[in-house]
Amino acid sequence: MVWLMVATLSAQNPPEAPLPAHIGPYLQHPAADAMSVCLVSQTAKTVSIQVRPTNAQDKAPAPVTAEALAIPGTPWTRWAARLQGLPAGGLCAYQVIVDGNAGPWQEFRTLNPAAPELRFAVFNDVHDQLATLDRVLAHVPAESFEFSVLLGDCWNDPQTKNQADRVFRTLDGFVRRLDAARKPLLYVRGNHDLRGPFAPQLARLFVAPRLRADAPLGEQDVTLAFAAGPAFLLFADTGEDFEKKKEVFNVLRERQTPWLRSELASPAAQGRWRLFLSHIPLFNDNIWNSEHARKAWTDVLAEGKVDAAFAGHDHGWKLLPKNQPLTVRFKSSPADSQFSDGTVTSTPPFPVLIGGGPKPAGKEQGTAMLFKVTAKDCSVRLVGAETGALLTQLELTR
Ligand SMILES: [Fe+2]
Ligand SMILES: [Fe+2]
Repeated sequence: MVWLMVATLSAQNPPEAPLPAHIGPYLQHPAADAMSVCLVSQTAKTVSIQVRPTNAQDKAPAPVTAEALAIPGTPWTRWAARLQGLPAGGLCAYQVIVDGNAGPWQEFRTLNPAAPELRFAVFNDVHDQLATLDRVLAHVPAESFEFSVLLGDCWNDPQTKNQADRVFRTLDGFVRRLDAARKPLLYVRGNHDLRGPFAPQLARLFVAPRLRADAPLGEQDVTLAFAAGPAFLLFADTGEDFEKKKEVFNVLRERQTPWLRSELASPAAQGRWRLFLSHIPLFNDNIWNSEHARKAWTDVLAEGKVDAAFAGHDHGWKLLPKNQPLTVRFKSSPADSQFSDGTVTSTPPFPVLIGGGPKPAGKEQGTAMLFKVTAKDCSVRLVGAETGALLTQLELTR
């Protein structure tokens, strides 16, 4: 009887394998002429990155020394090195040297603003459920993305328990599954990345142009904007949902308004598809939208001629057409820091595609957004975890 109980328990909760000594390498903050290489390690004392010269006859450059950033409350240190002076769209080979031991050669491509086509993939609301991601990825060919985007709530209320081991398991899961040693792994914050006692440390796993990982949660700037092929991408930070901690997150959102305006007016945005990504949608047909972000940003996004917006948060996938009014009935809820009772109508000036998650099947099935952008077409296929079916498709042409 005792044996049977033990057997049943262990079948339900198979012990997890110990975490590896190192997670990565993984690529961050891609640019046309630069790339950051990260390694998260429990043991490394020194880390450097060796780049292979483009011409085999050239002398190898000196290895780039990675800088260490301790991750408090854990045995982990994040090492990061910025590789600079790389050719746009060029293939770059590198190896990570840990304590004098060189790892395997890996290859990546820098961003290429002149490329005729861009393919990338967006995953949202994984909530630490790597089995759901596995199920989605079974239907996503490796060649269908040059980089991947984690569009928020990919961790679930990050905990400090057991030295935050769940956080690192999930990171390891994303790095391996999304081939992040060869394809940049971009991070957009969701409201559940902002909750839990480890949330302020999560930024230490990532590199972004204005990100100071030791800043308070509301001042960590993970936003990104860049041109890649015929697309110009904006990754905004919607912060918490509803009116939670508005003294922090209203400020965080309002700080992005002039940034969005200047990015959309920049030379890099001209002549490209302008795609706006955020965890919480600005527009939705239910309460899962950010009223404050909508009020703060819609005019700027419309004047900046954003072509389409992409989000998660809802947990139910959908495609909302542009210029169609959405009426939502709110009920006040102190627990959710929600506004008063009432009806709010809003009209998106661009189509809005919302991905699902975090379940492997059913109404909350996980999804992948597969982007294929050319000068003439912007096509986004939404593939579902349950069967790999094409759930919906956004097709823009010009
Ligand atoms: Fe979520
Ligand atoms: Fe969310």
